Amino acid sequence: MSQASARAHSNIALIKYWGKRQTRLNLPAVGSISVTLDDLYTDTTVVFDEALPADRARIGEAEVDTARFSEFVDIVREAAGITTRVDIASTNNFPTGAGLASSASGFAALALATTRAAGLDLSARELSILARRGSGSAARSIFGGLVEMHRGERTDGQDAFAEPMLTADAWPLEVVVAITDTGTKKINSTAGMSSLDTRSDYYEAWVNRAEDDLADMRAAIAARDFTTVGALSEMSCLKLHALMLSTRPGLIYWNAATVSAMHAVREMRDNGLEAYFTIDAGPQVKALCAPGQGAAVAAELARVPGVIETRRTGLGPDAHSQ
Ligand code: PMV
Repeated sequence: MSQASARAHSNIALIKYWGKRQTRLNLPAVGSISVTLDDLYTDTTVVFDEALPADRARIGEAEVDTARFSEFVDIVREAAGITTRVDIASTNNFPTGAGLASSASGFAALALATTRAAGLDLSARELSILARRGSGSAARSIFGGLVEMHRGERTDGQDAFAEPMLTADAWPLEVVVAITDTGTKKINSTAGMSSLDTRSDYYEAWVNRAEDDLADMRAAIAARDFTTVGALSEMSCLKLHALMLSTRPGLIYWNAATVSAMHAVREMRDNGLEAYFTIDAGPQVKALCAPGQGAAVAAELARVPGVIETRRTGLGPDAHSQ
């Protein structure tokens, strides 16, 4: 029997990824840039146990279908030359599957815990490549601070990994998460972006513009230009949702409170409080705030009708063993 535990933090993309260029190795169609969130994380303990007849997985108290996890652990078992069944116990300190990137922190924590428990010692880059197999955004949660995920060009996926851009200390941005619904979303991102023949007419334009958006964001981050980083983040978010809305059938992840919170963020800016929204495949709104502005932005968002809860966080660290 061998066991290991790891913590990985959730992340939110500022320049979004959507679409895969290859599904078997989960290769993204575009690169992305994200911030890792300190206060939203997954803790995972993995036990390889010879006595287990089959893999087992729990998220919180609930037993979950092991299919997606077993497939992932198989990659590690093959690399380690073992066939032992595994017990996975995972907890998120935030709602699971609700557009708060639980698959990002979940698969990053699972990559680290499983490889350690299997006796493998992977580099951060190798962990990022492995985490990507579970979920595209998980590759980014291996690193803290501001992170860039490379699309890569190779067909074996060895150049499709994330890399750190800036540590959390180097630019202590804040993020306020406005939770508008704690339910599980009906169509997760993998399902949403998987079908090639149902995707949007705008898809080619999305892929073709991605490199320019990434280059603009890299330059704005290097200059610590918060206004440009924020404006690019809102633009990438709205472009992603235009793509989702125009998929057939259209994916509508927003509810009324999501839209109210977006307007509230723009009103804050009109009133001198600089924040910018971003939204993933779910109804939660995340506001990117300049260092020291999180408390004021959280107070404003808490007043928006339909916002159930706000969470305020700084940028988090790398995934780590526990
Ligand atoms: O990690 P996935 O493959 O479930 O996709 C995540 C997609 C978005 O969250 C909508 C965007 C992103 O870059 O994180």
